[in-house]
Amino acid sequence: MTVLEPGPGMGYFTLELARLVGASGRVVAVDVQPKMIARLQRRAAKAGLDGRLEVRVAPAESMGLADLQSSVDFTLAFAVVHEFPDATRFFAEVAAASKTGASLLLAEPKGHVKQAAFEAELDAAAKAGLKVAERPAIRRCHAALLEKT
Ligand SMILES: C[S@@+](CC[C@H](N)C(=O)[O-])C[C@H]1O[C@@H](n2cnc3c(N)ncnc32)[C@H](O)[C@@H]1O
Repeated sequence: MTVLEPGPGMGYFTLELARLVGASGRVVAVDVQPKMIARLQRRAAKAGLDGRLEVRVAPAESMGLADLQSSVDFTLAFAVVHEFPDATRFFAEVAAASKTGASLLLAEPKGHVKQAAFEAELDAAAKAGLKVAERPAIRRCHAALLEKT
């Protein structure tokens, strides 16, 4: 599998994703902060998982995913979309990078994102062709599993 993780930070989820994709899979982690990416890279190397991890530093306006066109199976967007300057653009980029039928787990912390703002994110996702498939329960988060139609 190819997994996309926008805004991995130091990689709380990234190393586990790298384990889950297995030796033939890859995780593409894109962050705006070079420091986060450098720490993530060090942690991945220490865990022997750097061969499955592709890290990228991108400007806030665009993740620069043109090369991934229709190749991503799963995207994890955990506590990140509210930090992006334009959610519509975010979802359009993820949708373009995703295969048909690919899924995206969207989670936003309730402490930072109000219900109405989360619903607005879901509307932006729907406009990009990412429809709600499930509403999983994640502690202290708004969450939705989206599917590219
Ligand atoms: C709250 S942290 C979440 C980290 C991780 N997803 C987690 O849940 O542990 C948000 C991350 O998104 C990154 N970020 C914010 N805006 C971004 C953008 N426009 N493009 C890429 N990464 C961004 C930040 O640098 C930070 O690492």
